[in-house]
Amino acid sequence: MKSIESLGNIKNKNIILRLDLNVPITNGKIIDTNRIDKVIPTLNFLIKKEAKVIIISHVGRPSGKIVKELSLEPVSLCIKSKIKKEVFLLKENIFNLKKEDIFKNSIDGLVLLENIRFYPEEEANDDKFSEKLASFGEIYVNDAFSCSHRDHASVSKITKYINSYSGIQINAEVNALKKITSEIKKPITCIIGGSKISSKINIIKNLIPRFNNIIIVGAMANNIFKYKGLKIGNSVYEKNIGKIINEIFSHAESNKCKIFFPKDVKVGKNLNDKSVEKEFVNIEDDDMILDVGPKTLVEIKKIIDNSSTILWNGPLGYFENENFSFGSSQVANYIANKGDKIFSVVGGGDTVALINSLNIKSKFNFVSTAGGAFLEFLEGKNLPGIKALS
Ligand code: 3PG
Repeated sequence: MKSIESLGNIKNKNIILRLDLNVPITNGKIIDTNRIDKVIPTLNFLIKKEAKVIIISHVGRPSGKIVKELSLEPVSLCIKSKIKKEVFLLKENIFNLKKEDIFKNSIDGLVLLENIRFYPEEEANDDKFSEKLASFGEIYVNDAFSCSHRDHASVSKITKYINSYSGIQINAEVNALKKITSEIKKPITCIIGGSKISSKINIIKNLIPRFNNIIIVGAMANNIFKYKGLKIGNSVYEKNIGKIINEIFSHAESNKCKIFFPKDVKVGKNLNDKSVEKEFVNIEDDDMILDVGPKTLVEIKKIIDNSSTILWNGPLGYFENENFSFGSSQVANYIANKGDKIFSVVGGGDTVALINSLNIKSKFNFVSTAGGAFLEFLEGKNLPGIKALS
């Protein structure tokens, strides 16, 4: 990859900068700014070189439609407060934009395009859309490791049309993860949670030969419960994935990898409810599984005790409601307090937000901004965004 740091004179050049500013936002308020903080050095580097910067990012999954709640407005204000420069949020339709008009309302030469996933062409990796985006600049920089597993227009296809470089953050992250994975010590335990079931369930199978234990928690585990014939009430789950779960278990057996899933849970009637501990047989039709139970935590702690490396992505429950954050915070603190006894790597927007809220981020050996990309990197995959830069 050609690095941004090798760029010579870029004064007044238009740099298209793909960032992953997909931060947790509730009621217009950013809950955790980690992904923004991590790219400030890249922004400052470009500002110092007097380049003009067109930032592209997504937030959430608007599926190609304009969703007001997923506007990048709070993100533009947050960046502005951190770099003390105006970041103009450009809401105009990209197809109507011309290169010469991009900076016409910008005071400091910094523009943030509105959520790129408001356009269906982004996720379709559309050729014409990529060419249009590329036409806005002279140089493209990808500093979004955490969405480089997506074969999307502003992540991969755009590089076909413009001279492309890697950013400071993506370089740091790829180098750190390469080092970690080549020096990794067994027994290795991978904890996979969160709610992005469809993205992660297929990854689990490919991780099996590499790890000794895989702990499946969060909404992801609901599918295992259903597969095992346990009651899940009104909990979220993914349809038609019985085959892949079957393969996960048979693959795990032949590879001597232990798959662990919760044995008891905490439920609520909705996301804002209080929590009630339940055995599966007592789960009612309108119950939602939103955290792990105490017996599960005892077993997870035992697995952690017997591990040399922990790789963790995805919370154990709906930690945004503190009534369901017990499992996630117990596991986070338990790993953090292991000190030198365990090498710990944690990744993903929500998981990092969780350890930030507990003030224990510095106790982990490496904290990646990436969730899905982190898991796919662990699979040994050549991520489309990285491949496109190589
Ligand atoms: C993430 O949060 O992992 C990245 O922003 C990618 O998001 P996605 O899973 O919606 O593609």
